[in-house]
Amino acid sequence: MKKIFLAIVVAVGALSLTVGFSQAQTSDWTPGGPKHLYVKPKEKPAHHGVYDEDMKCLDCHKWDGTDAYTSATMSMKKTSRGRAPREVVEAAIRDTLKGKGDNREIYVLSTSFDNKPLATVAEFVMDPQSFNLVAMSEKQTEKLFHIYANPNVSLAYVKQRDDYMYFEGALGVQIVGKALQLQGTDPGYEEAARLYIPTLPLPKPNPTIPQPPGVDQLIEMIRPMKIITKVIPERIVIMNRKFKEKGYHAVQIWEPQKK
Ligand code: HEC
Repeated sequence: MKKIFLAIVVAVGALSLTVGFSQAQTSDWTPGGPKHLYVKPKEKPAHHGVYDEDMKCLDCHKWDGTDAYTSATMSMKKTSRGRAPREVVEAAIRDTLKGKGDNREIYVLSTSFDNKPLATVAEFVMDPQSFNLVAMSEKQTEKLFHIYANPNVSLAYVKQRDDYMYFEGALGVQIVGKALQLQGTDPGYEEAARLYIPTLPLPKPNPTIPQPPGVDQLIEMIRPMKIITKVIPERIVIMNRKFKEKGYHAVQIWEPQKK
């Protein structure tokens, strides 16, 4: 009995060892990552997105050496079928992130420090032309230290679930970019503040009480107190099931035009 018990203990121990080691740490990372994270393209499911006729399964379902990894999303850049024209993608991004018409929305901002990620809920205002985003922050908050150490950030917007079948109406935006941290004395501060401040819920002018301060005055008030974070996107991915109705992929990629 004792022997059987011991055998079980040893077997369970060995099992947990293998489980423990199957998750590679980034230091053991090989280019492209492990094979088990890739789709084995044996049979194409009925819901598979469209792609150009001359393409092979492995054009997308293996590592292509262009990045640290191959993601499903970026493989969509290889096909022209299914990709919406730039104007359509831009209009969809604008429409999704328009907030209440003021281009102000709530995002989750991801930063990292010492290789450990942090996700912070933050309000950003988007410039509808450049898609740059600005946020005003109180000093000494954790994310500011993260950004100072590492300006690579990612933002996510998600339409909250309002019906039972969430995936039917799924709508989200994922942004990857560089964050600039602006102090009141920095040249870009005023421009960023002019984008941000008019979207703040200011009291309505009322002739019987003193007028609320104007934008110019407010900029001078926040200048010594607030840090402005400006995110310059390098890639925006929008996922909208509605794209499919027009024969496009649900996931579309926007990248800034090269100058
Ligand atoms: C243009 C790139 C591209 C080509 C070519 C391509 N795929 Fe895919 N495939 C994708 C992407 C992107 C996904 C992930 C889509 C998603 O789930 O939204 C995917 C997903 C899949 C999945 C997983 C579906 C699921 O729901 O889990 C299978 C299986 C698959 N592909 C098989 C194939 C086969 C077989 C071929 C060739 C006959 C093929 N693919 C060709 C891009 C491609």
